[in-house]
Amino acid sequence: MPFDKSILSPFPEEADRQEDRRIRPATWQEFSGQTKVVEKLRISIGAAKARGEPLDHVLLYGPPGLGKTTLAQIIANEMGVAIKSISGPVIERKDDLASILTDLQEGDVLFIDEIHRLNRIVEECLYPAMEDFRIDIVLDKGLHARTLRIDLKHFTLVGATTRAGMITGPLRSRFGITERLEFYTVAEIETILRRSARILNVALDEAGAREIARRSRATPRITNRLLRRVRDYATVLGDGMITREIASQALDHLEVDHLGLEPVDRHLLRTMIEKFNGGPVGLGTIAVAVQEDEDTIEDVIEPYLIQIGFLQRTPRGRVVAKAAYEHLGLRFDRPENPNLF
Ligand SMILES: Nc1ncnc2c1ncn2[C@@H]1O[C@H](COP(=O)(O)OP(=O)(O)OP(=O)(O)O)[C@@H](O)[C@H]1O
Ligand SMILES: [Mg+2]
Repeated sequence: MPFDKSILSPFPEEADRQEDRRIRPATWQEFSGQTKVVEKLRISIGAAKARGEPLDHVLLYGPPGLGKTTLAQIIANEMGVAIKSISGPVIERKDDLASILTDLQEGDVLFIDEIHRLNRIVEECLYPAMEDFRIDIVLDKGLHARTLRIDLKHFTLVGATTRAGMITGPLRSRFGITERLEFYTVAEIETILRRSARILNVALDEAGAREIARRSRATPRITNRLLRRVRDYATVLGDGMITREIASQALDHLEVDHLGLEPVDRHLLRTMIEKFNGGPVGLGTIAVAVQEDEDTIEDVIEPYLIQIGFLQRTPRGRVVAKAAYEHLGLRFDRPENPNLF
């Protein structure tokens, strides 16, 4: 099963999008976790409002499904401005960017998702827009070429990326606020889950909530999706109430284990152990061995495995940690080399 279709995929699917409209938090009160990021943003927003100025440009990065898009919308709501959302690779030409920018009103938020995938020309055009709120357009060609300078309203750019490492230095330096989103704790995921269950009218007892939270890969998008799947089981197998038994039966059936790993994770770890003696092994080699693309492995699969201490990135490649062997019921017979890490 391709990872983007699997139940743990952090990428949104159609049902998520519909559900999103109902459960995506719109205010700080509804948003749980990421306390440090929220604290800093609230202060910056409060200060900007007090000065009567637009908010500084914000760069949000971190693995998919942790709340970047949600935060961009809350920022706009809290600032009391409109938000225009677009994905980086969709902006193909300088003219596309110019028309987006000239449409913005004072203080508006321009949300550029996947900002690391902007093409070079568009990106360079963004620099003066972010810094001096102007954009230069070249009119005519050849001998008669002249530049037209357009002044822009003072907007706030909110950029989101799963790949901070792929943002160029010049772009990164033009953001006044840069925040990294972290994986959520089980308690935070439980809070998010209970709120979603309330909105969707799903009955959920405490142990049921804990069971789903533990297996949610520390990611709100996944928790909301698991909730929906488990709800179906509860309706068919029981009286609709999600208990621990129902949750664990449903998630076992969906092959999501008690740490939130699914077949693709276990396959990756097992392959690294069996074919490469647990590493170190390079990303490209792993990708070929498990037939996934490198980006998916790096952006989606690995961050959580690293977070729970199953995988380490070293200069010489990826290494499977002892805890992963134990989880898979395999014997750890590789000499532990502390210099490796
Ligand atoms: N802190 C939170 N509290 C409650 N719900 C949240 C929180 N963060 C995210 N969610 C929920 O999780 C879902 C995914 O969040 P969001 O779309 O903001 O993630 P993202 O980081 O933008 O992901 P991607 O990198 O794939 O674009 C949303 O439907 C939202 O309802
Ligand atoms: Mg998003």
